[in-house]
Amino acid sequence: MASEPVNVNEFQELARQALPKMYYDFFTGGAEDQHTLKENVAAFRRIMLRPRVLVDVSRIDMSTTILGYKISAPIMIAPTAMHQLAHPEGEVATARAAAACNTIMILSNMSTCTVEEVASSCNAVRFFQLYVLKRRDISAQIVHRVEKNGYKAIVLTVDTPRLGRREADIKNRMVSPQLRNFEGLLSTEVDTDEGSNLEALAEGIFDTSLSWEDIGWLKSITNLPILIKGVLTHENARKAVEVGVAGIVVSNHGARQLDYTPATISVLEEVVHAVGGRVPVLFDGGVRRGTDVFKALALGAQAVLVGRPVVYGLAANGERGVRRVIEMLKDEFELTMALSGCSRVKDITRGHVTTEFDKLR
Ligand code: FNR
Repeated sequence: MASEPVNVNEFQELARQALPKMYYDFFTGGAEDQHTLKENVAAFRRIMLRPRVLVDVSRIDMSTTILGYKISAPIMIAPTAMHQLAHPEGEVATARAAAACNTIMILSNMSTCTVEEVASSCNAVRFFQLYVLKRRDISAQIVHRVEKNGYKAIVLTVDTPRLGRREADIKNRMVSPQLRNFEGLLSTEVDTDEGSNLEALAEGIFDTSLSWEDIGWLKSITNLPILIKGVLTHENARKAVEVGVAGIVVSNHGARQLDYTPATISVLEEVVHAVGGRVPVLFDGGVRRGTDVFKALALGAQAVLVGRPVVYGLAANGERGVRRVIEMLKDEFELTMALSGCSRVKDITRGHVTTEFDKLR
């Protein structure tokens, strides 16, 4: 029997063994040359830690508060599509794992279990990720269901007017499963013999005309706080604060949209400075170690979201696999805090890291 994984990266191979190639490639892949995909991880490796010694670290408190909700550590679950392709229990298993770890799951709009099923499966704090559809009336209905089922925030993804070119999906002729949130509202079956069925689906249903003015529309249909996911520049960060979002997620969609965007960790500080503490800044892309969580916090993120590793855990071992992934990251983060001389999350400062840009200052 293969030995138990000792770190999050080792779940990827288990997922590869567990899944049909088409699904593994879908979960793993990035856009085009996959340059940004590699960079998201590699850029973390260029950031070094500056630990402080002789600090009392006999008690470490990793807990933090996101939009008023206390979580056990600043590690949340990113919205990723179609969990039933990884495991038959799908998003329900992921949500239960989130609840067990006392963290927040962001449910994808493109989930294979419904908003209602996930809500009734656990009592954890949940956020919902939204794509705005050409059929605004259907998006409004979904938002209404999300509110009714006790989700606490809308995470509006803004980097996907069209789907990025994911070549593995094109070669595999990746087919979308039934996206159950749309059942009875919209057909997600697409008629295409060529390339990625997902690209054709997105083209058919996503609203490519979505713009800053539409944040007003979204606010008019919901009282939930709105976070905006997919910001990479200070210009857009300022704009987001101006239009009144409740939070920003620095994200390049796990390098699945526009290739040759920078690694997210290298633009986090730019966004944090522009935001100036007015709203919380969350972060995702390439988080694979507790040290990565620590680095993102040192550069100003309030919490990180984890995408692929969660899916790999789910594929490898269902709810238990997801729990192990989150626990491993938490354990590593706790150790990093102890060895860096930080007993509380707020003790982690910019002075605890050096980046390649510091040398140029
Ligand atoms: C995603 N991501 C994503 N984002 C989103 O807003 N809605 C979605 O439905 C999806 N679906 C999705 C599927 C898969 C398979 C992946 C890998 C990613 C992007 C996701 O929320 C997050 O930004 C990245 O996954 C973060 O990068 P890492 O942790 O995967 O490196």
